[in-house]
Amino acid sequence: MDKKCVLTISNNNQAVEVRENSELSKELDASNSPILFGCRTGICGTCLLIVEEGAENTNDVGEDELEFLEIVSDDPKARLGCLLKCSGPVKVKYIGK
Ligand code: FES
Repeated sequence: MDKKCVLTISNNNQAVEVRENSELSKELDASNSPILFGCRTGICGTCLLIVEEGAENTNDVGEDELEFLEIVSDDPKARLGCLLKCSGPVKVKYIGK
């Protein structure tokens, strides 16, 4: 059975159980969360969010993601939701673009 972790979305204080190290875009599809997705491949920025807590429980930022984030945000805690994977409790705030 897949291990789960809790993703808290601070915009509406929603806590969603997601499978560890799974793609959030798939995990959140049925959750009615405020986080929107577009391309789901890291090129549109629709899923832009800020990791408020639990950054140590997220996957590393890839080279392409970092390049994109540098263009769209000056917040070092910014991530693309479609490329974010959780391995423990994480709290995010959805920004979008
Ligand atoms: S959905 Fe397009 S960058 Fe994440």
